[in-house]
Amino acid sequence: MSEASLHSIVSSAFAPHVKFQIHDSSLRGTEAFRWERGNIKARLNKARLNLAWFNLFPVMRSSVRHSTSDRTDLTVEDVLPPHAGIAQLRDAAKDCRACDLWKNATQTVFGDGASTARVMLVGEQPGDQEDRKGHPFVGPAGKLLDQALEKAGIDRSRVYVTNVVKHFKWSAAERGKRRIHKKPRDSEIRACRPWLDAELAAVKPDVLVCLGASAAQALLGKDFRVTRQRGKFVPSSIAPHVIATVHPSSILRAQDADSRHRQMEALVDDLRQVARLIKRSAF
Ligand code: URA
Repeated sequence: MSEASLHSIVSSAFAPHVKFQIHDSSLRGTEAFRWERGNIKARLNKARLNLAWFNLFPVMRSSVRHSTSDRTDLTVEDVLPPHAGIAQLRDAAKDCRACDLWKNATQTVFGDGASTARVMLVGEQPGDQEDRKGHPFVGPAGKLLDQALEKAGIDRSRVYVTNVVKHFKWSAAERGKRRIHKKPRDSEIRACRPWLDAELAAVKPDVLVCLGASAAQALLGKDFRVTRQRGKFVPSSIAPHVIATVHPSSILRAQDADSRHRQMEALVDDLRQVARLIKRSAF
């Protein structure tokens, strides 16, 4: 489908002739009136159909590009119409085939939260439970994140939570039915990036929090080291305030209760920086 035909589809969907044309109330109840009403209904249905195609088009276009070349310069504009809202993005992302991860995943796990949220948290990719439930950070790492946010004084219902990769990447455990998390490749992170860019454009968060190395390196560059640079606001063009901290799942892997407690306190300290900033600034 060419840009020109896309343009004509969209313009026909919004063309003025789709608006009601029956002005003459004296015609009401007549054959002419019924004919005109049927005609208008048919045009509106056609417009709806065209709009559905328009929503699907960017996804088809992005998967074609990714299957034919390894382009790294895709922008929001390449993938989705500008100014798409979160609901429209989530809907379009359901059928994303920009990399192969959809094949073994149950569903696309898009970001969750209000599009008016001032804070956006970005993790790596959905885990086993997120994949089943269709929402980010609802499994064990999510529970830990909830506790840390609460301790830091941040209301989770007021933040937007998402991941750099929207499909669960896993391999089967040697024994049993467990699905083991596998780290996403750079190419998979790149393929998924337009969705994250579109979320950033839709939410426009004042504060962006990268959870773990995958998110931090995807957004702040390969040289970023969470171990050294966590808990400090770093300059970035992505959002007015950007900070990175550890991924909550790293705390789940702590060797003993003591180190788990210390790591949790450190995560809460990092998140307190965000809480203080939100309180200080009238965003
Ligand atoms: N880990 C993540 O990075 N994201 C989730 O949604 C869940 C676990």
